[in-house]
Amino acid sequence: MIDLVIPDKTHDEERQGEALMLEPAEGKNSGRKLYIESYGCAMNFSDSEIVASILQESGFETTKDYNNADVVFINTCSIRENAEQRVRNRLKEFTIAKVKNPGMIVGVLGCMAERLKSKFLEEEKLVDVVVGPDAYRDLPNLIDTADGGQKAVNVLLSREETYADINPVRLNSNGINAFVSIMRGCDNMCSFCVVPFTRGRERSREPQSIVKECTDLFKAGYRELTLLGQNVDSYKWSKPHPALSKGEGSDVLAGEVLSSGEDLGEALTTFANLLEMVALISPELRVRFSTSHPKDITDEVLHTMAKYDNICNYIHLPVQSGNSRVLDLMNRTYDREWYMERVDAIRRIIPGCAISTDIITGFCTETEEEHQETLSMMDYVQYDFAYMFMYSERPGTLAAKRYADDIPEAVKSRRLQEVIAKQQQYSHVRLLKEIGQVQRVLIEGFSKKSDKDYAGRSDKNAMVIFPVDERFKPGMYVDVVVERCTTATLIGKIVS
Ligand code: 5AD
Ligand code: SF4
Repeated sequence: MIDLVIPDKTHDEERQGEALMLEPAEGKNSGRKLYIESYGCAMNFSDSEIVASILQESGFETTKDYNNADVVFINTCSIRENAEQRVRNRLKEFTIAKVKNPGMIVGVLGCMAERLKSKFLEEEKLVDVVVGPDAYRDLPNLIDTADGGQKAVNVLLSREETYADINPVRLNSNGINAFVSIMRGCDNMCSFCVVPFTRGRERSREPQSIVKECTDLFKAGYRELTLLGQNVDSYKWSKPHPALSKGEGSDVLAGEVLSSGEDLGEALTTFANLLEMVALISPELRVRFSTSHPKDITDEVLHTMAKYDNICNYIHLPVQSGNSRVLDLMNRTYDREWYMERVDAIRRIIPGCAISTDIITGFCTETEEEHQETLSMMDYVQYDFAYMFMYSERPGTLAAKRYADDIPEAVKSRRLQEVIAKQQQYSHVRLLKEIGQVQRVLIEGFSKKSDKDYAGRSDKNAMVIFPVDERFKPGMYVDVVVERCTTATLIGKIVS
């Protein structure tokens, strides 16, 4: 299977198997060593920080070498088939380490847990602990159980868990960029997608706890936060009515509350409201978000983005297909025209806003003409970035139940190559247009290739490389004039 990924830190696949480090703390497991490896999307990496925080409370410290760990966790992704195979191979390597270190506990966390629990635990005997994404608070107990020689499993999904009160340990952080999870789960039921099954129902996190976490991060020196969720623009939080929350609910019928004339609208926090609340923390704090569903990206969100300079002009708006019949089969709940209208609205309300997308080629029954419509959608939008995949059938999804996976691999692959070729062309065109322009860049650190250069990202999420100037340090904003570009990077020099 060929997946092409154009790098973006917030997205799936770019970050694979990073081991995380945290400081030791006192507690029951004091001195015990934890190794966590994370795969997949930014949500998984963000979840690993929550897991690390929970285990730090019970005394664990981390190691970067799984050979000397007491507990080895792998935080998985199951969105596409190849991710599962990669995790299985890695677990086999951990099993070999376990022979030398028999007390070692090996566990699987996250999205793959529910589906593969019996396979990994009983059939293949690869793991001792299996924990789903809503059960991380139970980890200390589950580790106790596994210490006692028993297999430990908790894959229950929750309708409420948002880990709102847990202050994630920032692991492997540059101290400048951080992810803040604002919602969990997904109710969209796109027919190709396992997420609604692996991560459960959609629930939003209480806004004050989000604003507090963001404010604390800003005070600690962080300058760019990405609000994360499977579908951030359907974020919704309603404050319980004061009468109901004081336990007086039995005296107040819901109908009375609703018709009493009190403005319940005021108590509702939408994604646009939340975005504004975070943007208002400081003009020095950049705000990004990911991922948006085209059905939910309202003009209200776009106007909020336009109003605040520190909300980055970048929207990840997965189209998946450019054809209305395929979109219908995918259960995306919008059609080609709706998507184009939303792109027009972005161009109108936020001129110059960067747009990226996800595309799946060879979905069930996709014809050649329908594939051409995906290509023509790419011509229409001229995406800045794209994440492009061949369709891979996932067990239990609506598509797996309803439709035959009938497009031959060779055809899926050829269509993918056509999509990739077109995207490479537009990504390059987009960067070429920046030459001669001045970009505001947040310095993130030294460039990977040379400590004589700084690297940072523009408002539109393009990577920019420029010579170090001692007056400016990572975490500061600089204006950079773009002089040239490679296929994925802008190169320039500081002008102020
Ligand atoms: N096959 C191929 N790609 C998929 N994605 C999700 N499920 C599948 C699948 N079964 C892609 C979608 C989604 C991205 C995160 O992964 O494009 O937006
Ligand atoms: Fe999956 Fe669709 Fe939800 Fe995205 S919006 S997580 S593709 S079901």
